[in-house]
Amino acid sequence: MSHYLQFKDFTREEYDYLFARTRRIKEMFKSYQQHWPLVDRTLVMIFEKASTRTRLSFEAGMHQLGGSAIYLNTRDSQLGRGEPVEDAAQVISRMSDIVMIRTFEQDIIERFAANSRVPVINGLTNEYHPCQIMADIFTFIEHRGSIQGKTVAWIGDSNNVCNTWLQAAEILDFNVHVSTPPGYEVEPERAGLYGTDHFEQFADPMEAARGADLVTTDVWTSMGFEAENEERLRDFADWQVDADMMRVAKADAVFMHCLPAHRGEEVAAEVIDGPQSVVWDEAENRLHVQKALMEYLLLGRVNP
Ligand code: CP
Ligand code: NVA
Repeated sequence: MSHYLQFKDFTREEYDYLFARTRRIKEMFKSYQQHWPLVDRTLVMIFEKASTRTRLSFEAGMHQLGGSAIYLNTRDSQLGRGEPVEDAAQVISRMSDIVMIRTFEQDIIERFAANSRVPVINGLTNEYHPCQIMADIFTFIEHRGSIQGKTVAWIGDSNNVCNTWLQAAEILDFNVHVSTPPGYEVEPERAGLYGTDHFEQFADPMEAARGADLVTTDVWTSMGFEAENEERLRDFADWQVDADMMRVAKADAVFMHCLPAHRGEEVAAEVIDGPQSVVWDEAENRLHVQKALMEYLLLGRVNP
C-alpha cells in the first residue's frame, strides 16, 4: 500500500504512467464514457482548512469513478476537540478505502498515514501541495509538451506550492528560478530537497522570470499565516507578476496560479485574465489527475 504525502513519494516512471493515465481518464470524461473502477469504494476527505477546488475535485472525482465521498471537517468532528490523530486514523481507515487530508503541519498527515490501513493523500499541508503540482505539470505537458529541461519561474512566497515545485524539479528534471522578498527565501530542508541542482534563488523577480517557459505565483499569505497579512502586503509589494514580467519570459511562456488568486496583489488582472494564462485548465486538471491518482493507489496500474 502506498500513500501520497509529498511529490517525491513517486518516481519519474510513476509520473509518466499517471500523466498517460490522466490523459485517458480525461478523454473518457469528455466523451461521457462511464468509468466506474471504484464501485463500492469510499473516500473520506478531512479538511482542517478551507477549500473550493480540492474538495470539489476529489468529491466529484470519486463519484465519477463509481465510488462515494464523505466530507469531514475539524469544526463538526471530534478532530477539532483533541482526539489524537493516531486514534482518528485507526477508526477512519477501518470504515473507508482511501483518505484525503488537508491540514497544517506535514507531521500531522505523516502520523495519520502511519496509523492508517488505507492509502492517504495530501490535499495540502503547510509544507506541500503535491496534487496541485501534478495538475500543473499535466497542464504544462498538454500545452507545451515535456517539462524536462524547461525553466519554471516562481515569484513570491516560498510556501507549500513552491516547495512542491522544487521537489518536482528534482524528480522530473527541470529548473525552478525562485524570487522571494528578503526573509522569505526557500529553506531546502523544509522543502525536502536532495540538493540545489534544480533551483536557483534570485533577489530580483525580473531576473527569475527572464527566459522562463512557465511563470507562476501564489497568494502572499497562505492559510494559517493570516496574522502576518499586513506585513506581507508590504514585504511582497514588488513581487507582483505583471505584464512587464511576462514580457521578459519566453514569448510562448504560460502563466499558472493554483487559485484562489488576488488580482492586484500577487498577479495583475491583465496577466491572469490574459492570453498566456492557463489557470482554468490548471484548475480543471485537478479533477483528472486526482482520479488517476485514486485509481492508481487503489488498483495499481491499469492499461492506459
Ligand atoms: N488550489 C487549491 O487547492 O484550491 P482550494 O484551496 O480551493 O482547494
Ligand atoms: N499556498 C496556499 C495555497 C492555497 C491552495 C495556501 O496554503 O493557502
